Amino acid sequence: MQSVAVSAPAKLFILGEHAVVYDGTAIVSAVDARLHLKLQVTTAPLPTVTIQAPDVGLQDWQAPLASVLSKDSFAGESRFIEATLVAFHQQHPLQHNIYIETHSSFDRNYGLGSSSATVAATLFALSRLFAPHASNMQLFEMGLEAILLAQGKIGSGADLAAAIQGGTIYYKNQRPRQITPLSIPTLPIVAVYSGQKAGTTSYVRQVKAVREQHPNLVDSIIQTMLDIVEEGKVALLQQNWLTLGRLMNVQHGLLHAIGVDTRALAEVVFAARSARCDGAKLSGAGGGDCAIVLASTAAQREALSTQLDHIGRTILPYTLNADGVRVEEQ
Ligand code: PMV
Repeated sequence: MQSVAVSAPAKLFILGEHAVVYDGTAIVSAVDARLHLKLQVTTAPLPTVTIQAPDVGLQDWQAPLASVLSKDSFAGESRFIEATLVAFHQQHPLQHNIYIETHSSFDRNYGLGSSSATVAATLFALSRLFAPHASNMQLFEMGLEAILLAQGKIGSGADLAAAIQGGTIYYKNQRPRQITPLSIPTLPIVAVYSGQKAGTTSYVRQVKAVREQHPNLVDSIIQTMLDIVEEGKVALLQQNWLTLGRLMNVQHGLLHAIGVDTRALAEVVFAARSARCDGAKLSGAGGGDCAIVLASTAAQREALSTQLDHIGRTILPYTLNADGVRVEEQ
């Protein structure tokens, strides 16, 4: 038997969400809320796949390996792992019994990217055993294929890139896609759950529909978002929190303009403003999930906690700029 234990981080969009979908760019940071995965492989004449993922209600999920590998459409909670096995098998043929166990250190309702973390962790574990020389970019390409198989042709891949690479990245959703690590010592951003669970796909579709109805208007908003990413990259590298905060505020306003803000998210943003934080915005597709707040001083974080108390919210206990996929002790 061969086995490996790995983990992959969650992620948060710092800038560029929605704009990145249209061949754009984004800045995304890995979050130290991690998806842990254990992979065991053994040889067998008729190999099977077994998944234990109690966080998503999978107990003793089992199927013959051959039937998983012959699938071209996927459903249910096992779909991201199954699709990852298919994408990996296309490059590195699989023929073992596969046993996968996952558990998440964060609540999936927060919208921190549990699917991309699952794909990243599965791929990384498989590569440790069967393709130890695979580069991050090769893992990323296989992961993108898996996500397309599991959820259709929607999404930029920025979350997957952050989960694999870790740290804080500048991501270019163009052919060929580019992942540029931003070498920053700290990122004093905190996450706050809005209390609403949101579905990324429907908000991506909603923005696409608004863009079709008002192409000039939405395209100029997208272009401004992309300019914000470029300026944000410079501010991040200079650790210029005042500028980054202002850019985050503008990005939030533009996300509001394209219809993905909610009252619950806006309340967090206004709490951050009352606390005189450097900046705040919704993070990701919108409609709920998390907002992020740039609070570069202890006094700002303290004031933020007090303001959040008034609306029944709290700062999540996670730091950003975290490690990407990594091997864990078994
Ligand atoms: O809602 P999240 O955190 O999965 O982020 C979605 C970000 C979008 O730009 C709207 C879509 C994408 O795939 O980049």
